[in-house]
Amino acid sequence: MFELAPMPRFRLYTRASDYAHLLRDVLLGRATRGDDAARLEREICRRFDVPYAVCMPQGRVGIYLAIKHTIKPGQKVVLSPYTIADVINMVICAGGRPVFADIDRQSTNILAEDIERLIDGETGAVMVTHLHGLSCDIERIATICRSRNVPLIEDAAQSFGARVNGKAVGTFGDAGVFSFGMYKNVTAFYGGMIVTRDERLYHAVRAALDATPYMSCSTVIAKAVKALVTDVVTSPLLFKTCVYWLFRFGYLHEIRAINKHVMVELDTSRTHALPASYLRRFLPVQARMVMRQLPRVDANAAVRIGYSRLYYEALSSIPDVVVPAFRDDGSYVYNYFPLQYHPRTALVRSAMRQRRDMAVQHLKNCASLPSFAPEYRDCPNAEATAAQVILLPNYPRYGERSVVRNIAALRRFFAGGGEHFSDDDVNRLAELHMTSLPDSNVSVLGAEYARAFYRYVTDSSRELTMIDRDAAGRISAAAVISLEPDSLPRRLVFRTPLLWHMVAHPRRMFAWALTLRGPAAARSHMPELILIYTSPEERGRGRATTLIQRAETHLRRLGIDAYEVKTVADPSNPTLAFYRSRGFTPRKTASELGRRFQVFERQLHEG
Ligand SMILES: Cc1ncc(COP(=O)(O)O)c(C=O)c1O
Repeated sequence: MFELAPMPRFRLYTRASDYAHLLRDVLLGRATRGDDAARLEREICRRFDVPYAVCMPQGRVGIYLAIKHTIKPGQKVVLSPYTIADVINMVICAGGRPVFADIDRQSTNILAEDIERLIDGETGAVMVTHLHGLSCDIERIATICRSRNVPLIEDAAQSFGARVNGKAVGTFGDAGVFSFGMYKNVTAFYGGMIVTRDERLYHAVRAALDATPYMSCSTVIAKAVKALVTDVVTSPLLFKTCVYWLFRFGYLHEIRAINKHVMVELDTSRTHALPASYLRRFLPVQARMVMRQLPRVDANAAVRIGYSRLYYEALSSIPDVVVPAFRDDGSYVYNYFPLQYHPRTALVRSAMRQRRDMAVQHLKNCASLPSFAPEYRDCPNAEATAAQVILLPNYPRYGERSVVRNIAALRRFFAGGGEHFSDDDVNRLAELHMTSLPDSNVSVLGAEYARAFYRYVTDSSRELTMIDRDAAGRISAAAVISLEPDSLPRRLVFRTPLLWHMVAHPRRMFAWALTLRGPAAARSHMPELILIYTSPEERGRGRATTLIQRAETHLRRLGIDAYEVKTVADPSNPTLAFYRSRGFTPRKTASELGRRFQVFERQLHEG
């Protein structure tokens, strides 16, 4: 199961043939030829069982047109603050006054009860967002809107193909909007679609675009080139051999020049008028691209749902973690599996260190953005969610093994108590180790090596480092458990400057050789408590005992039911009594091993 580098955090839903078709059609002058946009609209009407559909140059233009032709200028639009600022801007450009309703932490979607509370005589529309492919409580919201006689618009930009009780999202209200943007699960590099049952709205939207020119081919080509670069950079071979390592280095060392290429920093400024260039017609060549993807939509969703089940089952019971519910009835198509945790950067850092690739969600709580200060409303759930979402990859080409590896990395992070080790921490661990365990094989190699050892161990996904801090925040006790103790010496040879230290200090090498672990007979392939110590000032306060208890809780969470510890079998060694008194049972005696070690084993029974 060893993997040198992970699959990328996302991949586009494009295929090589999409680029070939685009190039061919542009070169042959066929980009604007054909009635494919109308064909696509008919196909969407058939699939979603609606009478009207209109292709859009971008999803946001659909939102703009839907709001503009639904409300009277100056009316309120109740909406979710947890979305891109462009959506709020479209409402403002369309003459609406955004009113932010809070969201549900788990689904990250707008709360029906908040909508109900906020609707008043000035409300012109309610607009919901089905985020991350998770449908909001749409049946209830539709009922509320009907009973209050308020039009309902659905932003289903991220949820193409999701269905609630068999009915497509986007078709519950007066209008639904989809996006075919570059990162969406159906992509035309750029574009979108409005669906509606309202004939008046349909004609208004149609008329608004019919008078406009086609989107220029160069706009679509520029997007396609960007997509192609993204596809090349995230192609597994290139990504795993170079790109990942570069971005990982940039991320872990906070190098902005590298990070800016993966950071999504959306424009959050306020817009008052729709840019004239937005009103364009969707190109037939783009419609053909969407048509080719439609047969794959449901199968792709099924794969994402399957991966989301794995994430859900493994992560939903972890304390302090918020994940969406698991649904396989089609109402959740999970365009990513959003996990919430605070502090999320500690988790992403740990995942990166463990050679995984995942990223934080870039969406903000628009209700607290300075640009929407006039519309400010306290939305505590949106505020917390915006600070905590991490997008776990689940795209169809990701592979189940990659999901399983992510889960293992996340569980190790949580098992380790979600600890983040700074350089100061690493130095402190080395210093404490040298003073507390002067005879150990790490200490005999010197302080410099001890630091290299802890840099490796605190980064490693196969060791758990548990610590205690004193009142000043300094590490006062530490315990390290190796989940794979058999491979640790080999890993240290390759991952730390062990050989160099031995060559540079032959005498230390000799001392180190003397400390080597027991012979093969001692091997059990069981996790092993390899280090435990307390700072001199904190000794005698039961620190080691509590660390062991915490370690055991973590091991249980990892599904481990036994571990062992080796200790020097000298009767004067106080640790023998320590382990005996804490329920460790002798497994191999010194005479059996023919060495001076005693091996203790500890069974972890639930409870
Ligand atoms: C929730 C949501 N709404 C609307 C949009 C706008 O779609 P487009 O980029 O096609 O204008 C997006 C795009 O990212 C989105 O994520």
